[in-house]
Amino acid sequence: MPQSLRANILSQRDINKETFVEPWPEAGLMVTDSPNDPQPALTFDAHGRVISLDGRPRANFDVIDTFIADHALDLEAAPEAMAMPSLNIARMLVDINVPAAVVRRLANGCTPAKLCDIVRHMNVIEMMMGLTKMRVRRQPANQAHVTNRRENPALLAADSAEATLRGFAEVETTVGIARMAPLNALAILVGTQTGAPGVLTQCAIEESMGLRLAMKGLVSYAETLSVYGTERSFIDGDDTPWSKGFLASAYASRGVKIRFTSGTGSEALMGSSEGCSMLYLEARCLCVTRGAGSQGVQNGSISCIALPESLPGGVRAVLAENLLASMLGLEVASGNDALASHSQIRKSAKLMLQFIPGTDFIFSGYSAVPRRDNMFGGGNFDAEDFDDYNVLQRDMQVDGGLRPVQPEAILKRRREAALAIQAIYTHLNFPPITDIEVEAATYAHASEDMPERDIVADLAAADRFLYSDMTVQTVVEALHAAGFDDTARNIEQMLYQRTLGDYLQPAAIFVPNSAINQPPIRAASAITDPNDYCGPGTGYRVTGARWDEIQHIPQAQSPRDFIADRIGTPMKNLHDLADAKIGSYNEVILAVGPAFGRHLTKTINGLDHERVLEAIFTGVAKEGMTARLVRVYHTSDCAAIGYVGAELSGSGIAIGLQSRGTTVIHKKGFPRLHNLELFSFSPSLTLEIYENIGRNAAKYAQGKTVTPIKPSIDNWARLRLIVKTALLHRRETEAIENKNPKEVYFDWEPDI
Ligand code: 5AD
Ligand code: CA
Repeated sequence: MPQSLRANILSQRDINKETFVEPWPEAGLMVTDSPNDPQPALTFDAHGRVISLDGRPRANFDVIDTFIADHALDLEAAPEAMAMPSLNIARMLVDINVPAAVVRRLANGCTPAKLCDIVRHMNVIEMMMGLTKMRVRRQPANQAHVTNRRENPALLAADSAEATLRGFAEVETTVGIARMAPLNALAILVGTQTGAPGVLTQCAIEESMGLRLAMKGLVSYAETLSVYGTERSFIDGDDTPWSKGFLASAYASRGVKIRFTSGTGSEALMGSSEGCSMLYLEARCLCVTRGAGSQGVQNGSISCIALPESLPGGVRAVLAENLLASMLGLEVASGNDALASHSQIRKSAKLMLQFIPGTDFIFSGYSAVPRRDNMFGGGNFDAEDFDDYNVLQRDMQVDGGLRPVQPEAILKRRREAALAIQAIYTHLNFPPITDIEVEAATYAHASEDMPERDIVADLAAADRFLYSDMTVQTVVEALHAAGFDDTARNIEQMLYQRTLGDYLQPAAIFVPNSAINQPPIRAASAITDPNDYCGPGTGYRVTGARWDEIQHIPQAQSPRDFIADRIGTPMKNLHDLADAKIGSYNEVILAVGPAFGRHLTKTINGLDHERVLEAIFTGVAKEGMTARLVRVYHTSDCAAIGYVGAELSGSGIAIGLQSRGTTVIHKKGFPRLHNLELFSFSPSLTLEIYENIGRNAAKYAQGKTVTPIKPSIDNWARLRLIVKTALLHRRETEAIENKNPKEVYFDWEPDI
């Protein structure tokens, strides 16, 4: 089919690498409101036992219905919640006069279909407001992925140390080769606890191995306890809601934080959606999650994100599932942990739905390594986006959980972590980490910057760690023996916190503890730091030290000396004479601004004022006219300078020239803002163009036909130079004096 040239360009855009499909409810390819979704309903018998759920009688319950009916629903709140119009509850979500606890109580009495019926009434901005209020923890946080293709321990330690310094509250790793799990878990534990204790770590791995790592003390949380919204998907995963609940309890019994994982699209992906919408199935997952006693959930579609995104309303539905989780009082790690788009615009826009309201973990995996080293497949943002992310926080005064860091501090921390893991490997007789590897890990961006290791030997060491009685205690002893006492104590602190158990409370992260004679960190959770948002002026605000930190990106400069290189020594061959008078027919006036050649001596693109004057004088002379120089004192405005010049010009033609280089050719009698030619793009003006400006002005003065000059236009110049422009203009304005325009003698001989 023939296409326009524009359509050709559009078809090559990144956005068109993606797949977009129309909804197909029977295949589960519909994000909300499938015709097969049940209507909300709930009935009890006289003993308060659920006899039907969302229209399905108990006799026909699947395992998920049974689990929800018997363990998830708050039957005390259910009658009121189910009777209340869904629209009312939707409005309560955005009503600042309704506390979060009131909505939460009702939500916990809602069936999955009822939960969907509530968010059905909401657009994304209302959902974002709902999320701001319903988020469990007061302050948002962020989780990082730290992995690398070569499973290099020094690089894992260095990257997790950097992630910690950058502000992540949780760091997770995973493996390319499953047997490497203990050593990868160890490397990020050591990396994150270098410098200060408190960052939670996990290694995403098969569940029984995950539990073993936790019992060895190598990890402090686990979040890949996956649940699904149809019985078939559950059974395919060799699980039931009860087995997940049991696993959650096993972790809890060892003082280890867990969260479940679910998210729109998984059932359709596994071919067992039962024709239901993605959001309805996710609502079932969330009820199961709550019923199993999990404190939170990693949702937001997670690895399936591209599937809802292929459908209309997909990104909205993903926000809706985050909101539903928070309504149920679950800590939410809100996705953004997989590539969401080829398009930089779409990936950033999608992020805003979690970034702006703030969630407990905005990313349930920001890739703190380059994408090609991300063994989870990627994140919506990665290490190469760090500076962009910090600027987004600064632009919007939003806490995205990260902080800008000085490059030297990063190198120091990376080296310290790599040295610590080196010492542990030496002490435990693992395959050595060489000094060259430590150095490479300090400076590396990606695993290809690292020397290769003997994977077979590393795997043998991993097995040895796992199948011997070595635990994190062995690691702590090794660190002490090698003189890494601070890191050793930080890891011990994490173990101590496990015995306290405060971080098993909903939405807990560790924050520095300011109380004296207390441990250096404390759990900030739904119990100690509950979200108290109830409208403007309440809840978490980015202020004080945190706002200071977010503002001070390393790229930010002081504007005070920004134009120092445009000031220079005043021109010596420029002398003010008497008040300017009207001259003769054969002249062109060159009127300059009050700072010209004095307070400022160069244009915005660095041309010496003296050279600019020469160029214009030469141009005028080449056309057989004379230029007469006048300085305007009472204004810094380019149009006004040109206007005044034209009034004084014997020929009626003047050139107005601001110190920053902006130029106008004006004619006597024309209104101030209507001119012959305007050169507002001062950064693109060259001496050659200034000479031509002089020539054109002279030609106008002689009544000749003139071809206007077309300077090349750099569209980015304004973006790049606007601060300089403002400051140069400010300097010119400061030089304004209440004086008449003066005749100026420019001591210069034309050489033509
Ligand atoms: N629902 C349930 N589990 C999911 N996972 C990823 N996406 C989903 C989802 N939408 C699981 C994977 C793996 C871990 C990374 O999370 O199966 O265990
Ligand atoms: Ca995660």
